[in-house]
Amino acid sequence: VDIASFAPEVWTASSNDALTLSLAEEEGAFKFHPAFTYPIFGDAEQIFGYQDLKINLAFDSTTLLPFLNVSYSEKLPNVDIEDPEKKLMEYLPESTILKDESKWVDKKNQEANFFKIPGELIKEYKDENGEIFSIYKTCFKDDEALKLHLRMQIFVLFFIEAGSYIDKSDLSWELYFLYKTSTIKKSSSSSFSSRPSFVGFCTAYSYFRYPGFNEYDLSEESMLDSNKKISQFVVLPPYQQKGHGKHLYNAMVDHWLNDKHAKSIAIEDPNESFDDLRDRCDLERLHAIGFFEEVAKLNLPISKKWLDLKEKQLKLDKRQLQRCYALLELDKPT
Ligand code: ACO
Repeated sequence: VDIASFAPEVWTASSNDALTLSLAEEEGAFKFHPAFTYPIFGDAEQIFGYQDLKINLAFDSTTLLPFLNVSYSEKLPNVDIEDPEKKLMEYLPESTILKDESKWVDKKNQEANFFKIPGELIKEYKDENGEIFSIYKTCFKDDEALKLHLRMQIFVLFFIEAGSYIDKSDLSWELYFLYKTSTIKKSSSSSFSSRPSFVGFCTAYSYFRYPGFNEYDLSEESMLDSNKKISQFVVLPPYQQKGHGKHLYNAMVDHWLNDKHAKSIAIEDPNESFDDLRDRCDLERLHAIGFFEEVAKLNLPISKKWLDLKEKQLKLDKRQLQRCYALLELDKPT
């Protein structure tokens, strides 16, 4: 490099812009950029030492088999610069295919033939176009779920600020996978099954009242009681703002409301958009069961006993109940 013409900005790229993520469907791909890359490339989110740096990280939309390809027109010689491929590989599973696209295509097609969404189906719904979406619940005991989780976990770093990887050896984690499982054919109005397409996921932790209970032969039913905490919740950008977050959150809450061993539901470090989502869903649920009519009939101030009872029944903490009540009051016309 000619030192006289050296301009650092020419050799510096924004890691959020240089990195393109894609979800490869059978007919084309969704492309989008990460919201954050600082856990991987550092706080400045910049990569130094390359010109025209392009990092393509593609995922098969069904199996999430990753493919990573880094290209650039020039690289600064004789300087100790970061290798973006190496850096990313610290966070990606070993199964990631590097550079050789046709190898990736072969392997993903082969895997997709045998693919089954791991876990138990807990909810199916249709979107406004009549396409079908399915939510599965599983855990790290299932090897296929673990394999899939290792492929999707990097989305936590890319889309949740201050997100980090969870301990895969801890069997108290619950995993929820959201997939599009049928598609409307453009030429006809009926939906047909194609390969399922990954939409989003959530991890939730069960705090057991008696940790380690499964190591003992305990007959007490209450030993299975746990408090649930939603930890990482992601709907991928191509599917955001279409109601999928709402469906996923509601499906998990309904599932826990029907589980007599699930005692309470909490959220770990929600951000503003998740708070909005939760408030909207909780308000709708409280409306549907006549909660606010019941409150209106009570003598004020509301007794602690009544609030304790509702907290138990609805599995929401008092703060969230009060928040929903305050939101409803704000919404009333004057
Ligand atoms: N047409 C237009 N708008 C719609 C439609 C529709 N058909 N359906 C829903 N919306 C609107 C909703 O009213 C809502 O509006 P608001 O933002 O004004 O409240 C908005 O779209 C979002 O609602 P959903 O579509 O149900 O939610 P989405 O699927 O976009 O998921 C989420 C929300 C999870 C926050 C998603 O944006 C995401 O994954 N973001 C990145 C990761 C993240 O921030 N995760 C949460 C971190 S906190 C934690 O993990 C505990």
